[in-house]
Amino acid sequence: MKRRTLLSMAMVATMALATFTGCGGSREGAASDTATETTETAETTEATAEESFPGFDDGATIGVSLPWLGTQNWKEAEEMFTAQLEEAGYKPIVQAADQKVTQQQQQIESMIENGAKVIVVGPVDGSQLGAVLEQAKEAGVYVIGYDRLLENTSGVDGVVQFGSVKTGELQAQALLQGLEEKKGEPPYNIELFGGGPADPNAPNFFTGAMSVLQPKIDDGTLVVVSGQTDFTQCATVDWDNAKAQSRMDSLLAGNYSDKEIDGVLSPNDGIARAIITSCENAGQDIPVVSGLDAENESVEWVWSGRQYSTVAKPTQDLVAKTIEIIDSLKAGNGMPATDVEVDNGVKNVRVYELPPVVVTKDNAKEVFANDPSRLELLK
Ligand code: BGC
Repeated sequence: MKRRTLLSMAMVATMALATFTGCGGSREGAASDTATETTETAETTEATAEESFPGFDDGATIGVSLPWLGTQNWKEAEEMFTAQLEEAGYKPIVQAADQKVTQQQQQIESMIENGAKVIVVGPVDGSQLGAVLEQAKEAGVYVIGYDRLLENTSGVDGVVQFGSVKTGELQAQALLQGLEEKKGEPPYNIELFGGGPADPNAPNFFTGAMSVLQPKIDDGTLVVVSGQTDFTQCATVDWDNAKAQSRMDSLLAGNYSDKEIDGVLSPNDGIARAIITSCENAGQDIPVVSGLDAENESVEWVWSGRQYSTVAKPTQDLVAKTIEIIDSLKAGNGMPATDVEVDNGVKNVRVYELPPVVVTKDNAKEVFANDPSRLELLK
């Protein structure tokens, strides 16, 4: 039931994007496909039961290839994988690729050469690792996508991630709620930001958000003053906060000299803080801004009222799920069953999907009840 809802919402969102934006670049198309191809999987899981999944020994080498360390979630992943894989008796090689596709390809090649039994990959660019991941499969290595989908390759056994379309829906719902709470009667002036176009999550976040916002743009509740509503216009190359800040500076200079900006859709916390800083510098009252990651600094900003919302997607849960899968592979039990699959352009990939949770000042204490370091920030 839950999956069907996701499917139909994603389809509506995709149709809305296609209708209202004329569709952007190819990445948007790829992501929309991803969102719409989410299916229930009882049959396919059975169909792959014949695949053989040889186990491996204690102390096996496990590679973890991360895209960069530019946001808190990836730094946490680096630390947690290193510590927890070691604790579980593996030999981890954990590397980050500084947003460079070639560097990531080389790191994965060297993990294969070093005898890794499993390689966990958060791709810089979801569609640029096909050859090296197929090479890994030929060498008998298991490949698990981490936090981001691995597209257009048969070299992937499964993906662990938080629902990406759902994340965008939560961001947009929080934006609407914040506008009603803080900015009086509609209409509200807003602007839209997306994440890095090479990251398969970014168009999905945007698709999810637009499924909520587009009807409110159509009925006049929301006014995107710049007129920029296409993902390709709103995307932030490499998730670079400085690029987002200069886009916000230009939007304000070009469209808001005689207007107030009431809200901004932001795809993550770093970009949210850049947007808020830009508005403060321009002498605007702080708009309602969404976010993602529950980064420490943004948790403080949410608590003090400077950023309206964020979305928690705990790294600890994602890492724990990944290690659970690695343990299953080691024992020779193969990839665990899951009820979600996504067409990555070449094959249906098992997705182990965790639920993101929206955070505002109102529920922050509840959400972080079991996260002492974030709870500590709510003072
Ligand atoms: C992750 C976010 C992160 C962003 C930029 C996305 O794929 O899901 O948590 O903020 O990448 O690093």
